[in-house]
Amino acid sequence: MQTLQDKKIVLGVTGGIAAYKTPELVRRLKDHGADVRVVMTEGAKAFITPLSLQAVSGNHVSDSLLDSQAELAMGHIELAKWADMILIAPATADVIARITAGMANDLLSTLCLATSAPIVIAPAMNQQMWHAKATQANISTLIQRDVFIWGPGSGEQACGDVGLGRMLDVDEIVTLSSDFFVDKYLQDQHWVITAGPTREAIDPVRYISNHSSGKMGYAIAHAAIRAGAKVTLISGPVNLAAPIGCELIQVTSAQQMHEKALKNVAQATTFVACAAVADYRVADIAEEKIKKDNEHMQVALIKNRDIVADVAKLADKPFIVGFAAETQNVEHYARGKLMRKNLDLIAANDVAKAGQGFNSDDNALTLYSAIDKTDIPLANKQIIAKQLVSLINKHYLAKVTEK
Ligand code: C5P
Repeated sequence: MQTLQDKKIVLGVTGGIAAYKTPELVRRLKDHGADVRVVMTEGAKAFITPLSLQAVSGNHVSDSLLDSQAELAMGHIELAKWADMILIAPATADVIARITAGMANDLLSTLCLATSAPIVIAPAMNQQMWHAKATQANISTLIQRDVFIWGPGSGEQACGDVGLGRMLDVDEIVTLSSDFFVDKYLQDQHWVITAGPTREAIDPVRYISNHSSGKMGYAIAHAAIRAGAKVTLISGPVNLAAPIGCELIQVTSAQQMHEKALKNVAQATTFVACAAVADYRVADIAEEKIKKDNEHMQVALIKNRDIVADVAKLADKPFIVGFAAETQNVEHYARGKLMRKNLDLIAANDVAKAGQGFNSDDNALTLYSAIDKTDIPLANKQIIAKQLVSLINKHYLAKVTEK
């Protein structure tokens, strides 16, 4: 997807070891449609050559404020006005300090003063330097000035230390850059989303569960974050990385999911119940591993409480969206659940169809309200989620203005 189509990005590269990742960063930003112009500090040139970055960006690389030729081609004020975003990655402690002080002693710091575009910093330095009071004070000042700080990440560092200070991965910076330009139409909303399966223990080693991968719920969380919502994701056990920027609450059983959901919806504007919650739990969970001594065995089950229906019983309830995975009579069953559970919307899918629904990367949904229905045709779950989030918001706004 060309999520950065026609976006003009000035990439400031400073002198940290992570500078070796910048050709890949430039390539990936360009893959998403961005036009990238690189500005290097003197220190950056010790780690990567201007020629490499010129080759991948397809643009002249600027490195000097006093280069008359470069100024003739595109002067520093022109470059500062051209940018839709100034992204400094990697950003050393030195450049962070100079920008905080408002210095203009090289091209990059001058651009930061001369631009009205948003400035984003991806710090990269030794963990001790990151934690230093001076750096932390500089970062606080920059945040107050609406400079965006992405990272740093944690892990092993080039110097052998372990801790906070690594530049975020190229993937993460590209995702954050794409998300940055999306219309933040959910800015004032808080979404609580349940996702994935639950596991109902039989004994210490066995459980009852289902084929839910969590992909749909995680895609909805990601799309809502991109649109500016605060997101709390209550997830059963899945093999997925949490979307950057969400509050992740990991649970195992339906009872745990119930408790966390009811606790977290108090402040929420929207509750999306995407989890495939086990309908039953084991009545008596064996304390020791059950032995296979008997030819037949029975496990007594008790019905789990319905999370979404219980949220819908709250006096001050959020806007509520449920899911219905069906194998037949989809509309009939979905509408039944919409009414019975007292939901605002229900997203239904036919899980009997090959290549969509459970454990698949694709899905097709029909969204039912009490009075209408909207089809979201078969597509990747990320694309479906984006459309679904926008549709949910339209229904939510209609309900809020109706009140
Ligand atoms: O009744 P059924 O399980 O098909 O309903 C599906 C919807 O109800 C989904 O939104 C699911 O997340 C929610 N649900 C729930 N708690 C349960 C069972 C289902 O929130 N115990």
